[in-house]
Amino acid sequence: MNMFSKWKGILSNATMYHHARHLVTGGLPFLRWTELYGLTDTNQRVADLGCGPADILRYLSRGRRPAFYLGVDISEKYLQAARQRSDACGIDAELIPMDLTRLPTDAEVQRSIVKLLEQHRITRVLLLGVLHHIDDASALQTLNLVESVRTVQTMITQDVIRVPGSWINNRYCDMDRGGYIRDEAGYDSLISRSDWPRHGKFWSSPRLPFLRYIHYELSR
Ligand SMILES: C[S@@+](CC[C@H](N)C(=O)[O-])C[C@H]1O[C@@H](n2cnc3c(N)ncnc32)[C@H](O)[C@@H]1O
Repeated sequence: MNMFSKWKGILSNATMYHHARHLVTGGLPFLRWTELYGLTDTNQRVADLGCGPADILRYLSRGRRPAFYLGVDISEKYLQAARQRSDACGIDAELIPMDLTRLPTDAEVQRSIVKLLEQHRITRVLLLGVLHHIDDASALQTLNLVESVRTVQTMITQDVIRVPGSWINNRYCDMDRGGYIRDEAGYDSLISRSDWPRHGKFWSSPRLPFLRYIHYELSR
């Protein structure tokens, strides 16, 4: 087993995932992200697709958090940790298993994601660290199905990105488990092919400033 596969094994453990990411990046800007993602707004009803262990909930306080949190992930292990996290912080939440790569071909999964978003009157959808795990067809289907739900006003993505000439950042990408890490043109192309009429783009970095995250905010 090489160093990278050991690292990927560590990340599959929900508790280690949180701490290992902080260690390698020098500290992720979760507090800033909660503001940027609208998670401190009590009027929002948020769906977090690919929520993982719902680490973002660690950074929300009572009175400054969404009215509802729907977490969806492929990993039952992460969902179990996410359930414990949402129970501990007392947020009204539901955690559901789903494989987003089934969306392009499975009408039942398509119906189920739309139904969940409609039923919970979701206003904002987060896709944090997920696009780089899924192929273009699955990514586009996810973006477009979310867009088809009229209660959803905004969708926000966040991903690691290959940056030409940025050796340390690109080594960080090599350590990632995602098989679809794109460069800026690749993410731009994906987002602009989606049904969302408007999008903005912004960047963030953890404490180690040469590591980059690209974000898109999609709106109507
Ligand atoms: C980089 S982690 C991000 C976790 C969380 N959103 C965060 O920002 O802390 C990527 C997440 O996407 C989930 N994921 C990967 N492929 C998926 C798929 N096909 N369907 C649903 N979730 C998936 C993984 O299980 C993991 O929790």
